[in-house]
Amino acid sequence: MIARVAPVTHVPTLKVDDIDLSDMAFWALPWKERERAFAVLRAERPLAYFEEPDLSTSSYLAPPPGRGYRAVTRHADVTEVSRHPEIYCSGKGALSIIDLPEEMVEFFTGMISTDNPRHARLRRIVSAAFSPRRVDAVERGIEAVAGRLIDRVAPLGECDFVAELAAPLSLEIICDMMGLPPSDHATVFRCSNVIASSGDHEYLEPGDDPLEAMLSAGYELVDMLTKLSVRRREHPTDDLTTALVTTNIDGEALTPSELASFFILLLTAGNETTRNSISHGLLALTEYPAQRAIWQADPLTVSGTGVDEIVRWASPVNWMRRTVTEDTVLAGVDLHPGDKVLLFYGSANRDEDVFEDPYTFDVRRDPNPHVGFGAAGPHFCLGAHLARREIDVMMRELLARLPDIEVSDEPVQTVSRFVNGIKRLPCTFTPTAPRALP
Ligand code: HEM
Repeated sequence: MIARVAPVTHVPTLKVDDIDLSDMAFWALPWKERERAFAVLRAERPLAYFEEPDLSTSSYLAPPPGRGYRAVTRHADVTEVSRHPEIYCSGKGALSIIDLPEEMVEFFTGMISTDNPRHARLRRIVSAAFSPRRVDAVERGIEAVAGRLIDRVAPLGECDFVAELAAPLSLEIICDMMGLPPSDHATVFRCSNVIASSGDHEYLEPGDDPLEAMLSAGYELVDMLTKLSVRRREHPTDDLTTALVTTNIDGEALTPSELASFFILLLTAGNETTRNSISHGLLALTEYPAQRAIWQADPLTVSGTGVDEIVRWASPVNWMRRTVTEDTVLAGVDLHPGDKVLLFYGSANRDEDVFEDPYTFDVRRDPNPHVGFGAAGPHFCLGAHLARREIDVMMRELLARLPDIEVSDEPVQTVSRFVNGIKRLPCTFTPTAPRALP
């Protein structure tokens, strides 16, 4: 029996002083225990202070830890912070707890770690390239990729869901959108794993310096994409890379370094998150067979709410960081310029003040004001529409083609402070023949 979430009791069982969100050991705990800890924080210390992890012991590139951060764990506070970028800025780094050198912030995180007016300018340019029309056009591609992946495993009756289905789907879609050939996909997969998991030793060679490994993975991606953009400038096609290198809004275009960091952001943001949502989705449907039956009985209606419930349930991004720019008060705590706050989306998505039965997976949950894609604000996920389409298509195809697919053994979690990942997810299903090709 898979025991991811036997419903969490609402009685706090961990002592608030024993919780350390900076300790990697916390992120190796089973999900249920992590959820309990966040319930304790929301109830007793919703803006708890933590010391920063000391990454300088594992990397010569990391500065010594700074002055610590506060963990924003309640839904109301996560939305308040996201709504006020003038008080809580992203420019000092949204994706790292420690203050990384400015060039590294710029290189790895690009627009997600910028503020206005620069952020508005970048978002204007990339939104034009990332238009809903382009994303809608990808839908047929998503169906084709999902169908092909399912065909490959259908006769086997079992597989590792992450390796065979969830990971290749999001990887192939984002690579296809960018115009990267299949021969480059394995490199993108390896590099984005190293960058996004930042610390899970499975993705590093023994003795690797994690930050150095991230940097070289980043350079490898940029090198690949720079070569592609040179080709696209000379011979434009209808892919996203062509759009990004040719988009010019009122004389504004991306500089080469902005283009490089946007490529890295897209390949990492668009890959890990969607893959983990789909894997958590299968796990949830296995644990809640009645919810699966509801989805299966009426996939077209239920997917509207079911997809967002998967994102709430999965909360694939653990946090984003903001830095305080002026004296302010949040949840009764005085904050001062330079203070760091981390927005814990998974915790906000289980907030019992906002969600009825937050620990129940409910594919018809409505309203569902989850903050899995971030809360309303300038940095709200640019890829939310695409991610929803991918999850929808994959669930639809799975439930139709492998209707009894279920998780058959314990999932292996990614050990990361930043992504709520699943590395391996064994699953079984009644073998079927691949579809006849037209
Ligand atoms: C289920 C899948 C996904 C989840 C849970 C997710 C989550 C997030 C979150 C939490 C943020 C930050 C919000 C904030 O700081 O306020 C974000 C931003 C972003 N996401 Fe996603 N994301 C997903 C899929 C994607 C995909 C598929 C792409 C693109 C291919 C993408 C591209 C981006 C970009 C470019 C940003 C930065 C936006 C900005 O700073 O203006 N994401 N996402």
